[in-house]
Amino acid sequence: MPKKILIKNALIVTMNPALDSFKGDILVSANRIEQIAEHIPANDNLVFNAEGYIVTPGLIQTHIHLCQTLFRNLADDLLLLDWLKEKIWPFEAAHQPDTLRLSAQLGLSELLKSGTTTILDMGTVHHQDVIFEELTKSGIRAFAGKTMMDYGKIPAGLNEKTHHSIDESVRLLKKWDNSANGRIRYAFAPRFAISCSDELLIETGRLAKEHNTLFHTHASENPGELELVKKRFGLRNIEVFDKLGFAKENLCLAHCIWLDENEKQLLKAQEIKVLHCPSSNLKLGSGIAAIPEYLKRGIHVSIGADGAPCNNNLDIFTEMRLAALIQKPANGPKAMPALDVFKLATINGAETLGLKDEVGSIEKGKKADLTFIKLNQVHSIPFDNVYSKLVYSTKADDVEHVMIDGQWIVRDKKVLTIDEKQIFANIEHAVKICTT
Ligand code: GUN
Ligand code: FE
Repeated sequence: MPKKILIKNALIVTMNPALDSFKGDILVSANRIEQIAEHIPANDNLVFNAEGYIVTPGLIQTHIHLCQTLFRNLADDLLLLDWLKEKIWPFEAAHQPDTLRLSAQLGLSELLKSGTTTILDMGTVHHQDVIFEELTKSGIRAFAGKTMMDYGKIPAGLNEKTHHSIDESVRLLKKWDNSANGRIRYAFAPRFAISCSDELLIETGRLAKEHNTLFHTHASENPGELELVKKRFGLRNIEVFDKLGFAKENLCLAHCIWLDENEKQLLKAQEIKVLHCPSSNLKLGSGIAAIPEYLKRGIHVSIGADGAPCNNNLDIFTEMRLAALIQKPANGPKAMPALDVFKLATINGAETLGLKDEVGSIEKGKKADLTFIKLNQVHSIPFDNVYSKLVYSTKADDVEHVMIDGQWIVRDKKVLTIDEKQIFANIEHAVKICTT
């Protein structure tokens, strides 16, 4: 029997229903939290001294594009539809298995080093097995799926036949869903309404329900996108999804900036999930989603960095800080307090993914996904409210260790599962393949 790991003397931010934070110990047995208390006797457990660290639930990002990490800093200062047509789609169309692998490794290194332990990822059209291979090797917890595109003006290299897109998604689901001891799940990912046929959207909605998994897409990110939706369907995004029959609690929608009253009511009534991406929304000039209002209405919201070329990082601490700050000029300084923001990155993320009994808080019986953050840094002391410290002054680089599913994945800032040297050695060549 492998020994249990006893994490001692940490400042534990549990995110349990009582929102307890205290100095104490966590006992990890295999991949689960066996006990959490102010003092747990060492016995013959392996002791990890976490004095000087905050230990939080592993952080959760519900909207990522690992396939785009290779395009960081190469697609700046454009509006969404130009950004997609001029840069992102041609780049994605040029991906080969090896470039996609490198893109995923690069993104995963950054995510893991900065304390993200669970993601919902949208892949590209082809070679999705490669992303699943890298997710598996990296040790991260993930929902992922190939993006689906079968309609409208899209590059030939990404344009699929409807049935092929669906068949390939189902093949991938059968191969990867619930693999790696349940750490890897499949999520269907039609890209957005305007790149998908009605048939593809309807059938995907049916399949996502049949297989008890997520329907992940983009919606109402940009006024130009909304105009195209209205022109084609005579309806707004959420109304389209409702009419086509998949506006349900497994529907995960990135952005949701440009919504009317009826759409907001649909989000609430049908328990649809909003995936908030503050950096991306600012950088693409898309707008600011009314997150404080959504939360007040009881709409589910979680958070993600989106892809590297619209951010240009995948660092959840930047996302959290921005999620708070961008709301304050219009809504006053009390809008989006630090605790509400930290919930987006923990328990709300878990709820979005249907994982609220497994991750998102440090509680007995949950999976051992933990992020260890340096407590005393000159940029983050002093503090009395730990959520203020985590959201407003902690930096990604303060993360030193990460455990996922009871395994050490990052130790002393080094990702144990990914060879960074190999990324540095190959990145230039890979970028050339995709961008020239
Ligand atoms: N809408 C459709 N595709 C994309 C994408 O790749 N990124 C963003 N931000 N929005 C999209
Ligand atoms: Fe996106």
